Order: sequence, then structure tokens, then C-alpha cells
Amino acid sequence: MPTVRKTRSYRFPSAHVLASRELSGADNDRIFGKCANPNGHGHDYGVDVCVEGEVDEATGEVAPTHVVDAIFDETIRARYSHAMLNDLPEFETEVPTAKNIAKAIFQALAAPVTERTTARLASVRVIETSNNHFEVRA
Ligand code: NI
Repeated sequence: MPTVRKTRSYRFPSAHVLASRELSGADNDRIFGKCANPNGHGHDYGVDVCVEGEVDEATGEVAPTHVVDAIFDETIRARYSHAMLNDLPEFETEVPTAKNIAKAIFQALAAPVTERTTARLASVRVIETSNNHFEVRA
């Protein structure tokens, strides 16, 4: 039986400062440039959540849309939307770059997707600007 990948797309605004607490202000400026400004800046992040599984013969579904949406809303949107990402526990030691945001979202969604659907999390893509996006795969 072939597996099917289903992707749901979400969007929320967040703010971040790209600076490591381990580095000096000068080093952060050198590495992250204007993104290290301590006043922060915002992005309207896009997140594509892809789940993979077999089609349920009874429902014709891979994972019910409302369940995937609920997992995203409870796990990510409730904490990330209109938030300063640097204040979240997952970014206490990691700089909230889009790469690390994608990793954190993947890690947060993987278990509930497995627990609450018959599918598994295949990938998380974070779209930070129209010029860049980052994808974490299982
Ligand atoms: Ni930024």
C-alpha cells in the first residue's frame, strides 16, 4: 500500500533577536548583522506541516485535518504567535534562527502526530521570507 503525504500550511507573526547569549555584542553583530539588534524584529512565518501515512479505507483520509490543525494550534500557535521567540524555553540556549525554529516545531509535533493519528510527521518547513525557507525531515 503506497503512503500519501498530506501538507497543511499555517501562518503566524513572531518576533526574534538573532544573538547568542554565549557571544559578545560585537561577535553577535559580526555574525548576525542587523538581525542582532536587541530591539528585535518580526516575521510573518509560514509553516508547512507534512504528515505521511496510509489512506484509511473507511474515511479516505491520511490524518484528519481538524486533528492536525488542533495539534498545531495547541502545540505551536498558542505559544509562538505574537510572541518573542527568544523567551520560549526551547530557545533559551539556541538562537531562534529559522533553522532552529523548524527543528523545534518538528520536535514538538512529532509525538502528538503519532499519538493522535495513524500518520507520522514527515517534514516541517518554515518560510521566513519570500527569499528563504528551511525544511526538517524525519
Ligand atoms: Ni529575522
